[in-house]
Amino acid sequence: MKFETSITETRQTIAKARQDGLSVGYVPTMGYFHDGHLSLIRTARESCGFVVVSIFVNPLQFGPKEDLAAYPRNIERDCSLAAQAGADLVFAPGEGEMYRPRFSTAVEVGRLGTVLCGASRPGHFRGVATVVVKLLNIVRPDVAFFGEKDAQQLIIIRRVVEDLDIPTTIKGIPTVREADGLAMSSRNVYLTPEERGAAPVIYRALLAAEDAIKRGERRTAEVLGVIGGVLQTEPLLKPDYFAAVGLHDLEERPTLQGEILLAIAARIGKARLIDNLPLDVSDTVKRIAI
Ligand code: PAF
Repeated sequence: MKFETSITETRQTIAKARQDGLSVGYVPTMGYFHDGHLSLIRTARESCGFVVVSIFVNPLQFGPKEDLAAYPRNIERDCSLAAQAGADLVFAPGEGEMYRPRFSTAVEVGRLGTVLCGASRPGHFRGVATVVVKLLNIVRPDVAFFGEKDAQQLIIIRRVVEDLDIPTTIKGIPTVREADGLAMSSRNVYLTPEERGAAPVIYRALLAAEDAIKRGERRTAEVLGVIGGVLQTEPLLKPDYFAAVGLHDLEERPTLQGEILLAIAARIGKARLIDNLPLDVSDTVKRIAI
């Protein structure tokens, strides 16, 4: 597996793979790998000839009071895990390589970036969209793989790629969970043992809402009541939001119909955790991909 920190050399390595007739799959990450990241890399390996993984903790997507400095990092371990999962190239640029002096361009994502996580993290999705467009422009992959755990991010990136005619297929990959249902996240490392014991309540709340919908409940307010009721059972958890919205526009409606997203963000100790369940609600209720 190759390791590059320079944009120019990364482009040259990828150009060589293309000359060899290989399709390019790409997994953008902020590192500190868990099984969720490795599942993205393995899926890219199955379907693409050359697999690029980037590791870059993007300062543009962190607010001034957020955990940029504390964000967990372990590049050696990440490289060894990426190689085992089938990566051909790890691109790990420094901040100066990505944001040269006088850098000032941003990708605005509109309303999709101001609701749900965007409401409590102003500017976050502008930062995500800006770095993702830059990375896609560096790597120019045929296919890029994103985790469905970050559902709002995935929905926004699909919109950006479509709006800006970026010639990359965006593939969502299902959330990988711990045995007790907690969605894998690099931020789970912030949890104390007691907080870690409390965290699966987020997934239990989503399951309770899914169950209520399966039993015929279609009123958004009632379903939100179910989620709130389950979350309340855990005093260590402070909900940021819980929502039941349209999957593509992230808008709340009085009743649930068609493709929807149940989404929760909550703080437990130092960690802000998110999780979601995308559902197709008609006469029957089915889990769907994003
Ligand atoms: O999901 C992430 O790890 C990041 O938001 C991403 C897509 C790599 C952009 O920095």
